[in-house]
Amino acid sequence: MIEALLKGIPLPTMIVGSDRIVTHTNAGISEIFGRDLAGENVVNLIRQAQASAAIEACLDNGRSGAARFVLSNHSGEHSFQLSAGAIGNGQAVISFEDQTRHEEDDAMRRDFVANISHELRTPLTSLMGFIETLRGPARGDTDAQDRFLSIMEREAERMSRMVSDLLSLSRVEVDERVRPRDQVDISGVLRSVIATLEGKMSDADITVNATNLENAFIVQGDRDQLTQLFLNLIENAIKYGGTGKTIHVSLSTIARDQPLRQPAIKAEIRDEGAGIDPLHLPRLTERFYRVDDHRNRNQGGTGLGLAIVKHIVKRHRGRLEISSKQEVGSQFTVFFPQKS
Ligand SMILES: Nc1ncnc2c1ncn2[C@@H]1O[C@H](COP(=O)(O)OP(=O)(O)OP(=O)(O)O)[C@@H](O)[C@H]1O
Ligand SMILES: [Mg+2]
Repeated sequence: MIEALLKGIPLPTMIVGSDRIVTHTNAGISEIFGRDLAGENVVNLIRQAQASAAIEACLDNGRSGAARFVLSNHSGEHSFQLSAGAIGNGQAVISFEDQTRHEEDDAMRRDFVANISHELRTPLTSLMGFIETLRGPARGDTDAQDRFLSIMEREAERMSRMVSDLLSLSRVEVDERVRPRDQVDISGVLRSVIATLEGKMSDADITVNATNLENAFIVQGDRDQLTQLFLNLIENAIKYGGTGKTIHVSLSTIARDQPLRQPAIKAEIRDEGAGIDPLHLPRLTERFYRVDDHRNRNQGGTGLGLAIVKHIVKRHRGRLEISSKQEVGSQFTVFFPQKS
């Protein structure tokens, strides 16, 4: 009877007698503690002051309560809400609700807000400074006015780009769980992205070396997001690839991609730029992450482009591979599951 009852409870739960000995447990308990605790003394199992006080109060005085309980096991550190409820005869039912996800989400949200505030403060401070200068020392100086206004315009554009990037990032994150349904030809998407960026490329004297873009490569996808994905990657290749260089864009199929465990379509964007120190590679797709070396300090990115790329790839059930050799160039490869 009690076993069946415990089995029906979705949380890891156990029953402890007035003698502190665990009498019954469910499968969730073995999962989080790594063993079935039946027969063990709860005093030895729960050794954190607040959590053991909650259990004591319940066993001794029949008072139900809850406390935070941190457990380190094979899968890392988990934080639980431990609840102790009196069930008569000096017994207590103790359950554990995993709070790790909530706490991590909270921490991420706090970081995110701090990051945004920080990123916006710099251009705002500069705008406010220039307004003051235009009102005061530069009042009669038209040359200075023109110069300051164009800096102000750049800063305002930067802020507006950041806001629209943040919006598209949050949109992709929202529908990340819903797999797109349309059939999209990636080579068509790549051709139109390249056409869109033609002006930027000729300004920087950059040529595109395209392989296989005349053939159709169909994936299950969202056309707008795929456009955004390749726009971000090719824009980076232009920005960080350097003037006068070539950007290599190629499409191919592979019979079986090991990590995706199925046939895949591979889209590769490679530049001939200065490359990225391997130390930065693992963090490159984090929001606001920029490699701040002297070369790209003035290129004015917000560090959101690759975060957006990562989420779009994830939504398409694909994967992103980044490799880079310093002084040779960087390569961003996206693998999409191929429609069979
Ligand atoms: N092809 C590349 N070659 C060298 N470094 C690169 C390349 N692509 C990205 N990076 C580095 O990774 C960082 C993050 O790129 P990401 O696209 O996320 O941001 P960004 O280009 O700085 O800003 P934006 O949000 O405008 O795209 C860049 O700041 C740059 O330092
Ligand atoms: Mg970018």
